[in-house]
Amino acid sequence: MCGIVGYVGQQNATPFLMDGLKRLEYRGYDSAGVAILDAGRISIRRAVGRLSALEDSLEKAPILGKPGIGHTRWATHGAPTETNAHPHTDDSGKIAVVHNGIIENYQELRAELTAKGHRFTSQTDTEVIPHLIAQELKDGAADFLTALRNALARARGAYAVGAVFADNPDTVYAARHGSPLIIGLGENEFFIASDVPAILNRISKVIYLNDGEVATLTPRGVRVFSLDGTEVQPEIQTVTLSAEAAERAGFETYMLKEIHEQPRVLRHLLEKNETLGDEIGLSADYFRKLNRIMIVACGTAYHAGMYGRLLLEQFTGLAVETDLASEFRYRDPKIDPGTLLIPVSQSGETADTLACIRMAREWGCKALAICNVPGSSVVRESDATIFTEAGPEIGVASTKAYTAQQMAFALLALHIARARDTLDDEEIAECMIDLRKTPDAIHRVISRKESIKAVADKHHDGPSSLYLGRKFNYPTALEGALKNKEISYQHAEGYAAGEMKHGPIALINEYLPVICICTKTRDEVYDKMLSNMKEVEARHGRIIAVATEGDQHVKGIAEDILYVPEIRDEFSPIINVVALQLLAYYAAQARGTDIDKPRNLAKSVTVE
Ligand code: M6R
Repeated sequence: MCGIVGYVGQQNATPFLMDGLKRLEYRGYDSAGVAILDAGRISIRRAVGRLSALEDSLEKAPILGKPGIGHTRWATHGAPTETNAHPHTDDSGKIAVVHNGIIENYQELRAELTAKGHRFTSQTDTEVIPHLIAQELKDGAADFLTALRNALARARGAYAVGAVFADNPDTVYAARHGSPLIIGLGENEFFIASDVPAILNRISKVIYLNDGEVATLTPRGVRVFSLDGTEVQPEIQTVTLSAEAAERAGFETYMLKEIHEQPRVLRHLLEKNETLGDEIGLSADYFRKLNRIMIVACGTAYHAGMYGRLLLEQFTGLAVETDLASEFRYRDPKIDPGTLLIPVSQSGETADTLACIRMAREWGCKALAICNVPGSSVVRESDATIFTEAGPEIGVASTKAYTAQQMAFALLALHIARARDTLDDEEIAECMIDLRKTPDAIHRVISRKESIKAVADKHHDGPSSLYLGRKFNYPTALEGALKNKEISYQHAEGYAAGEMKHGPIALINEYLPVICICTKTRDEVYDKMLSNMKEVEARHGRIIAVATEGDQHVKGIAEDILYVPEIRDEFSPIINVVALQLLAYYAAQARGTDIDKPRNLAKSVTVE
């Protein structure tokens, strides 16, 4: 979704703004712009499409000056045109604003301001903000900060805002309510940004603005205020990520780098959380008394939640449900304080997931987040967090965050099983031995990437594909299909293999690739999967199987096989999904798509 950057310092702002915007590209956008203070006036430049268009324009006619704000816009209100691109200004052109989020009452505000003589030039909700500020100044607000505070107090909805004012030429203003915004503290320079990776190369300390806070950044420092004008003492946090974590490190794409990072990420998570203890913020006694778990998430994180449900049910005996956050928030579920909510989110800023946490709080439930981003809204609004610590995930298609979420669920399920005495020490120790095998097993899958590429090259050009799995690997089928459609734009459908006969079997013909996850299991699911594959074979479907090394049964049925090492059933999805990530990756490469920034997608969905 939209990305915001701002720079206050001694240098010309343009290079810093453009560098920050490039690092935010992964969030998804369709136009971009900057506003820079230049000899007491604000110069604005905007362009549609990729950042290179804005860059070209700034190269042809540079803007020199400081400070400045910049924005990448992911269109919501109004098409991606230059007029709708941010920054937006008031009539005088002395106030410029960039915004992430949605001002829900913008139509009402716009009508009111129009009646007062303000002229609007865009179709955006954002444009009401500079006009509201101008009106506040006209109505006698003591200073720009007061006008900004008053204006924002009238806005309903979510926002992260950056602003500059020609009459205060050394200041960048920032505000947050429901959309992410951080302040970076560098050496004699200060930044605002939508996330830490945007400015990681310039700073080592950050302030995570809280909802309802506004800030001023000048070369002399940063001050933070609440919306009522009271100055607050911000908490300054040290950034532990290295600048390299947000670089491509020689890989052709971030996604490929992130796929390769998975063994290291999981090893780290295992070492750090081997025995999840009371430090996660909820006591063993709490888990003993619990009677239900509700997992909520979106997209890939939802698939991790589906997997988590199966593990939690099996290991803890608790009643567990998983729902899409966007559906759960409009249901009327029977939730009480005996229910634990588990919101799962890579970014920690997904609007629907956040809404579920707020609902759960109203019902008196605790929320235990599984999240990748410290300081994010999900973390701040939950009672406790298991951090997935996968490092910045820049590729829009989630990979390492997913396997880290799966691992977090495995560790949590074992922790709760210990607390509730549903598994004995020996069983838990055996599970841990198997979990510790997953990083090497993933490494082995990745080492076969050339053979996975060959399979993708052979099957990539069809219009559609079907992914089938059962039990623990039903979520793997959904996730494999999601990866494929996200980055290769090939229609892909994930299905529970047992449901195939209830509809999708009609799709099968000699052209349809059917990806069957059929790794060896101790229970009957394996035989059932073999039967499903036979049914596909009988209808001449083209079977690509994910199978256990050395499996002879699958070999006799499938046209192509992606081999994975053998592991306990419960943990096989952590390994199997990596083969599907690579299959989708190479299919996308063969189809020539923009793998890290697929069309229309935003990395973090901060609006409903
Ligand atoms: O940041 P979150 O984990 O809350 O994001 C949820 C989804 O938007 C996300 O997983 C999305 O589906 C990814 N593009 C999947 O690759």
